[in-house]
Amino acid sequence: MKIKPLLILLLFILALGFLSPSCYYDKEETLYPFKKCDSVNVTYSQTVVPILSANCYVCHSTGNQQSSIVLDTYGGVKEVALNGKLIPSIEQTGPFPMPKSGSKLDPCSIAKLRKWVNDGAPQN
Ligand code: HEC
Repeated sequence: MKIKPLLILLLFILALGFLSPSCYYDKEETLYPFKKCDSVNVTYSQTVVPILSANCYVCHSTGNQQSSIVLDTYGGVKEVALNGKLIPSIEQTGPFPMPKSGSKLDPCSIAKLRKWVNDGAPQN
């Protein structure tokens, strides 16, 4: 008859484990990737330049113009934005997925660039 209290204790510990909220490892950013993404207030200088400089300048700058694409000047970015090459390249749906041999941009960065292009690629 000594086993019963132990069994109850064991069940109690198990129940505690199931009820404990610390057992949830769901990350907010993984569940809601767009929740904290401000893809509305987007400007060339504050939004577009930092994304392109971090991911694209290494191959597409005035000093290293791979495929004659220059992304470190407004004129160069505007050209690929408006000729329809920029968005398919970063969404990796076109013939040349970018960044070449790198990992795809995060969904928030892609959403921001898409918004800026849809706005008409303004120099703001
Ligand atoms: C490792 C070098 C490298 C990086 C990094 C890179 N590119 Fe490219 N990019 C190329 C090369 C090379 C081409 C020519 C096409 C090819 O060979 O894939 C190209 C072509 C392009 C084109 C023209 C596609 C077309 O349809 O003609 C665009 C637009 C472009 N890149 C945008 C970007 C953007 C935006 C980024 C950053 C997110 C980026 N690239 C990062 C090397 C790179």
